[in-house]
Amino acid sequence: MSTNLKEVKRVTTHVLQEMKSSGTPIAMLTAYDFSLARLVDAAGIDVILVGDSASNVMAGHETTLPITLDQMIYHASSVVRGCQRALIVVDLPFGTYQGNSKGALNSAIRIMKESGAHAVKLEGGREVIGSIERILTAGIPVMGHLGLTPQSIYKFGTYVVRAKEEAEAQRLREDARLLEQAGCFALVLEKIPAKLAEEVARSVSIPVIGIGAGGGVDGQVLVLHDMLGINTEFRPRFLRRYADLHAVITGAVSSYVADVRSKDFPNAGEQY
Ligand code: KIV
Repeated sequence: MSTNLKEVKRVTTHVLQEMKSSGTPIAMLTAYDFSLARLVDAAGIDVILVGDSASNVMAGHETTLPITLDQMIYHASSVVRGCQRALIVVDLPFGTYQGNSKGALNSAIRIMKESGAHAVKLEGGREVIGSIERILTAGIPVMGHLGLTPQSIYKFGTYVVRAKEEAEAQRLREDARLLEQAGCFALVLEKIPAKLAEEVARSVSIPVIGIGAGGGVDGQVLVLHDMLGINTEFRPRFLRRYADLHAVITGAVSSYVADVRSKDFPNAGEQY
């Protein structure tokens, strides 16, 4: 039987491992909905993170803490329907895995079953290792996340660079090794000194993806809405803006409003 559908080869955790081995940098972005996920996937991204940053970006909350498991599953299932190639990783939201490995396993199983995503991510090191190990027993791939872990914002009190002091840097090195030994397939390092991030990436065999962690790691991740310039307020040093969609969208909407007011829209060719 002939078909016009082009086979697209899915990125897997094994592909990411091969990319690390061959020195090919991994490109990862967030997405939370079908339409943007489809564009991001078609443009060749390797990994899509359905991040709990949806709490800020999609829902307007100040922190990532309020988003629920049901809301993450809704975002993740929309993203899954838009993608053919990217590996899709979903954040376990705050309160669904800390201090309760059975709860963690149940949360991860719900994400995999109800959204069709391929892996989960959770924040923390030794304090969540029991949850990570239990999720892995179900064959669910786990991505770790160390450094600035936004679900702990009320412990940190600020979003400044983490692990600048030796004691915190040493704890992070040890946690990275623990996550690798537990069986995580990859690790995100957020907002830590570039030198430390490079050292960690060299010391573990799994891919290390950085955000605000310099260029010496195995890949990069950014929040899609930040790199597209939809948000104008958030301008950390590590963010490169690849577009100014704030200007594009506000310009397009104000032109539309003006055209409706002046009755320029719709014209003769835009009606039946
Ligand atoms: O939720 C998120 O967007 C993240 C990235 C910043 C890594 O965890």
